[in-house]
Amino acid sequence: MEHGGEGGGFLHALEMSAVGEAMRQSLMLYPTVETLHIMGFSILVGSIVAFDLRVLGFGRGIPLEAAARLLLRVAWLGFSIAVPMGLLLFVTEATSIAENPSFQVKMGLIVLAGLNMILFHFGPWRSVSSWANGVAPGAARNGALVSMGLWLGVLAGGRLIAYF
Ligand code: HEM
Repeated sequence: MEHGGEGGGFLHALEMSAVGEAMRQSLMLYPTVETLHIMGFSILVGSIVAFDLRVLGFGRGIPLEAAARLLLRVAWLGFSIAVPMGLLLFVTEATSIAENPSFQVKMGLIVLAGLNMILFHFGPWRSVSSWANGVAPGAARNGALVSMGLWLGVLAGGRLIAYF
């Protein structure tokens, strides 16, 4: 593939950077980074879906706040691996990936998932200790459903990048 795409600009400079060059030239770097990306988002989305299922009423034997203390920390661990590795994958072919509709949708869904998380944690979650018998109110359950939908959408968007 001809690298550097059309014109100059930030994405072109990113792609032509020493990091972009190394990601393209090294035999093992790209597959290693992609494997770490997959590990990171598996940990991230897996723990978020487990937390959302608990909010939706599965695993009622597990106290909600205890579930959050474990699963949300694990989610941040996954996020802190997935994002830097994703950025390295992006730098490799920044100009063409930035125009990839599936990549654009994926990035949009990540932003929406972040907004939904903020609305949840500064909204219904603030009263978690008063939820009767650990049963989440409607607003919290809706937040959990939207969260699952968005993050599973991010997975689909990521997988489909290779097909556009
Ligand atoms: C944080 C949440 C993220 C999730 C859940 C996620 C998920 C995915 C998935 C499922 C794939 C397909 C992997 C495969 O089947 O090989 C993928 C690939 C990719 N991701 Fe992510 N990703 C995330 C963040 C990012 C970020 C922040 C970037 C860059 C800005 C990024 C850039 C890429 C690129 C460039 C690929 C294509 C790799 C290829 O096809 O060779 N990802 N991602």
